[in-house]
Amino acid sequence: MARLVWDRYINTNSIAVDATCGNGNDTLYLAQRVRHVYGFDIQKQAIENTGELLKQHQLDNCTLICDGHENIDKYISEPIDLAVYNLGYLPKGDKSITTTANGTISSLEKVLGMLNINGLVSLTLYWGHPEGREEREKVLEYVRTLDSSRFHVLYMQLINQENTPPELLFITRKKKDVI
Ligand SMILES: C[S@@+](CC[C@H](N)C(=O)[O-])C[C@H]1O[C@@H](n2cnc3c(N)ncnc32)[C@H](O)[C@@H]1O
Repeated sequence: MARLVWDRYINTNSIAVDATCGNGNDTLYLAQRVRHVYGFDIQKQAIENTGELLKQHQLDNCTLICDGHENIDKYISEPIDLAVYNLGYLPKGDKSITTTANGTISSLEKVLGMLNINGLVSLTLYWGHPEGREEREKVLEYVRTLDSSRFHVLYMQLINQENTPPELLFITRKKKDVI
């Protein structure tokens, strides 16, 4: 579902950010569709796995950065069309290395300032673990405060599933800023 929405917002001239590369599945998906992808992960292994996947597909339109997405402003100096966050920890990886409420919100504050008109930020929230539960709560609290004259925020839930199914959050920058 998230990818269907991404596709509506990107083209071969777009600049995209994968804020949580992990094993590189989303980085690859984006690299096959846009002009350039900036990929972030704090785990060296994740950056290496992503690099390997891109190499296998002969793609060289990505900049991979082994640093937290909260430092995004240090690495990107051009406007962004799409930023995707697949929050939580790497499946089958070290569950103690997970995204956090503070890091994600700090990154979002920066990314929203870099987003092009008609750009999109997409977050997949996994909240079946304690850190994820806190992150979900705080991120939702933060996005509810975003200026409605500048951004639309859409929140999607799977309402017939048991336990804590993942949720989607989309933030779009509206056509014109109302000043
Ligand atoms: C759910 S996984 C991402 C899965 C990935 N989209 C894929 O297709 O394989 C979350 C990733 O976020 C990374 N991460 C945690 N904190 C981060 C941060 N502050 N900045 C960037 N990446 C972070 C973790 O190392 C982990 O690899």
